[in-house]
Amino acid sequence: MTLRSVERSELAREAVAAARAGGEVARRGFAAAKSAAHHKGAVDLVTETDLAVEALIRERLTATTGLPVVGEERGRSGAEGGATWIVDPIDGTTNFAHRHPHFAVSIGLVDAADEPVLGVVYAPFADELFWTDGDGAWLGDAALAPIRPVRLSESLLATGFPYDRQTNPDNNTDLATAFLMRTHGVRRMGAAALDLAWVAAGRIDGFWEPRLKPWDVAAGVALVRAVGGEVVDYRGERHRIDAPSLVAAHGALLAEMLDVVREVRYRWEVDLPTTRATDE
Ligand code: IPD
Ligand code: CA
Ligand code: CA
Repeated sequence: MTLRSVERSELAREAVAAARAGGEVARRGFAAAKSAAHHKGAVDLVTETDLAVEALIRERLTATTGLPVVGEERGRSGAEGGATWIVDPIDGTTNFAHRHPHFAVSIGLVDAADEPVLGVVYAPFADELFWTDGDGAWLGDAALAPIRPVRLSESLLATGFPYDRQTNPDNNTDLATAFLMRTHGVRRMGAAALDLAWVAAGRIDGFWEPRLKPWDVAAGVALVRAVGGEVVDYRGERHRIDAPSLVAAHGALLAEMLDVVREVRYRWEVDLPTTRATDE
């Protein structure tokens, strides 16, 4: 099914309403978050609020749009195939659980080919809503400008580190070091959906991270592409929703970033040939 522009704009409106409602639940759960956190893995947390926000968004989008929903915490509801909502109820749970207010509700819609076609990223404490219907992109009511080129040496980048970083040697510290030495700075803010939204908004110039999940990126990828940015994997191929690596930036900066990725990954392969995670 190909979604027409009018359908996408109607669906984007529903996603905006659902993200705002979910954000309100997250805001209310914030004070109790620290005591309510449970471990999914050594450093991977989940709170009651993650579950409550996901349940609310799932119920709402199912009722208003009838489309299937895939959520981080409870998986799929609805049929396989066709346009599907991809929901991260709280992106930045580690921040949330430590009462650090940089986190967001992320709702993306992928089409039958798993291409992100629209998305909403809502940060409840900043009360900032980044959204795209696939035709334009906005921060609240203000249209986002097309992404601008910047040289790597003058760029501000963001990244994140995967939850298996204590056990998997392919943990992104090598690339972080390399970019730190070649840019104005590297930020680790703790919410990949917001990192992508901030690339779209021009607050940072580029973002990379390995092993993100579809719910981390579905909305943000749609946002970056809506302002003319490119999103690829470490090989430089167009990013797919389940790709094992992601780089997002203006095309010119992206080319420079991929040079660094290739250089570091090449050294990495030479040094650690047997323990390498399956990326390519
Ligand atoms: C995480 C955040 C973080 C990124 C991790 C993600 P979660 O999502 O986006 O910035 O580095 O890879 O898993 O667990 O807070 O929804
Ligand atoms: Ca996430
Ligand atoms: Ca999450």
